[in-house]
Amino acid sequence: MLQRTQFLKRILTLNRLNRIQLRCSSTGTTSDEVSHFESLASTWWDVNGSQAILHRMNLARLDFVQRIIRNSIALNEEPTKASQDDVYIPGYNYKAFFPKEVSNAVSQDIRMTASSKLQKMKLNVLDVGCGGGILSESMGRLPFIKHVTGIDLAPDCITVAKSHARSDPLLQGKVSYHVKSLENVKGKFDIVTCFEMLEHVDHPEAILNHAWKRLNKEGILFISTINKDLVSWFTTIFVAENILGIVPRGTHHLSKYVNSKDIVQWFQKNEGSKYELLDLKGTMFIPIKGWVEHDCPNVGNYIMAIRKE
Ligand SMILES: C[S@@+](CC[C@H](N)C(=O)[O-])C[C@H]1O[C@@H](n2cnc3c(N)ncnc32)[C@H](O)[C@@H]1O
Repeated sequence: MLQRTQFLKRILTLNRLNRIQLRCSSTGTTSDEVSHFESLASTWWDVNGSQAILHRMNLARLDFVQRIIRNSIALNEEPTKASQDDVYIPGYNYKAFFPKEVSNAVSQDIRMTASSKLQKMKLNVLDVGCGGGILSESMGRLPFIKHVTGIDLAPDCITVAKSHARSDPLLQGKVSYHVKSLENVKGKFDIVTCFEMLEHVDHPEAILNHAWKRLNKEGILFISTINKDLVSWFTTIFVAENILGIVPRGTHHLSKYVNSKDIVQWFQKNEGSKYELLDLKGTMFIPIKGWVEHDCPNVGNYIMAIRKE
């Protein structure tokens, strides 16, 4: 009996040591941030609980991800490999020149070809800062996703994510979760997601650097986070945390917010011509409509997709 107690104590001490090491080796995430999310883990999947706002934005994020992937599918092979299945895409604005019936037929052909190519894809995803798994799970259910690896520094969030995923047989073998820092991830992925996590780290550029290294050529990095401006402070801290209470107090710190133009500049400086900004949209929450996209990505929340060339 004594031996068993000692053994358990040893395991807990080792666990604690592991946690401390993880926090130290993380890409600038303080233990306060990790403890904050650990304390919210038990209510992660309550759609009206601590992560209500993530549940509400999830469909909009999925729409964005699917649209970007669909639009970035190369419809035609190189000319030498062209087959009868390839779709003819006019190299000009055909909608303005062709009669309506013809341009509709071309559009439909393009859509159908993209859909059938999408159904055959089997993409591997790395979800950085997955928390309790809201995004990882919904990505795992998409037919063209082979596997989602979710990583987070908060062990309690990972425990919740694992346990929630076990309740859906469709997710078995499609998602896996690990308490791990990004710099310790091995292997390459077709998609890397950093959703609502860059605003919680001290060195976002280190996250960009490591996330980029984990991408396959032609892979896509998806980011959603918050610009450092007064509008963001007003909506995400003053209103959401202090007035409405739909986000737990202390979740956000204006000083950690990251401007979308700084992310673009980081890519210009570090990746030169080896990246393509596929899309960058502002996002906002409208109570009667939910999360919507808009064309002012330099204000408030935003979402973006960058492809590795
Ligand atoms: C607001 S939650 C977002 C969860 C999830 N990405 C989503 O949008 O549904 C932020 C998460 O990032 C995690 N996190 C913060 N810094 C991290 C880091 N350096 N590496 C991995 N996870 C981190 C936190 O523990 C927390 O679970």
